[in-house]
Amino acid sequence: MTSDPALETLFLPLERGEVACAPGARVLFSRARAGAPLHPLFEAGLNCEQSFAPDRDALTRAGHDVVAETDASGFDLVLVLPGRQRQEARAQLARAVSKVKPGGVVIAAAANTEGGKTLEADLSALAGPVEKLSKHKCRAVWVRVEEAARDAALVADWAALDAVRPILDGAFVSRPGVFAWDRIDPASVLLIRHLPETLSGKGADLGAGIGVLARAVLERAPKVTALDLYEAEKRALDLAERNLRPSKDGVRLTGIWSDVTKGIEGPYDFIVMNPPFHQGGRADRADVGQGFIRAAARGLRPGGTLYMVANRHLPYEHNLAEVFATHQMLADESGYKVIRAVKAKGR
Ligand SMILES: C[S@@+](CC[C@H](N)C(=O)[O-])C[C@H]1O[C@@H](n2cnc3c(N)ncnc32)[C@H](O)[C@@H]1O
Repeated sequence: MTSDPALETLFLPLERGEVACAPGARVLFSRARAGAPLHPLFEAGLNCEQSFAPDRDALTRAGHDVVAETDASGFDLVLVLPGRQRQEARAQLARAVSKVKPGGVVIAAAANTEGGKTLEADLSALAGPVEKLSKHKCRAVWVRVEEAARDAALVADWAALDAVRPILDGAFVSRPGVFAWDRIDPASVLLIRHLPETLSGKGADLGAGIGVLARAVLERAPKVTALDLYEAEKRALDLAERNLRPSKDGVRLTGIWSDVTKGIEGPYDFIVMNPPFHQGGRADRADVGQGFIRAAARGLRPGGTLYMVANRHLPYEHNLAEVFATHQMLADESGYKVIRAVKAKGR
């Protein structure tokens, strides 16, 4: 098994000569990930889009210029690795079809368990009959987009499928594809119930999503003076900043688009977090949560406090014991645990 099978499958139509790419062609790689031997022919004209910080950083390390989202269009070739959420994936395919020039090619790939099976029907609905191949339990589909075959009305409809909209009776704005996009995650609900009114000073929310925990902190704890929102997914961070605008009176809010496992600023008086445990198509990524715990411990001031929630089976206690002076379980309910950890006064 390869390390990023969808990525490798995406490039097979080019490697096998099924799709030609002329030297100097303008290529957009949307939701780009590093790791593939990026086709030498389009090195010069490659534009990478990636809104998830760890993937953005890996592309940058591999020497590529990356933007969160480009306004440019008229590309000769658009490559896309659509997300797992169906509405978001359809919006990404529609966007790819709208960004390619007439006669240009769109190639998309996904794991069979993450939307690969519906790629063929979706791309052909937008742009006419597609070609396809299967490898590594993934599918790649591609189409030469002729103007006459492009369904402009469907492209516009699907491009709007992941548009920002109010959710939960207008309590937040959100969009398909971000974490728990149209609900409040039950783990976050449990943590919110255990956040004390006494939180004060400068805090941080690690993996802030659309700002659910941060909103609860601001509403509950009047002595909070500043809150830094760390989030890897730029589309979620933009929403968090919008969602918190109404409640930020007198509190300094700063959005930070970054990979928390690479470290945070600080020092913070307190940190709240519901760390991710699903990444790169894999669940149970305890390593990411452990990276969050280490970052939190380094970012807190001596004596500072962490409040976190996690699936109860995730093995965080050993890690907490290593980097915090004390930790205690405040709740153990419905498969989730809420933990309070205090950093040593002397560190
Ligand atoms: C379980 S969600 C919690 C979201 C929000 N705090 C809430 O309670 O609804 C975890 C969040 O962490 C973000 N995330 C994943 N990996 C990250 C990383 N390496 N650095 C920063 N944020 C990350 C995800 O995009 C997601 O929004």
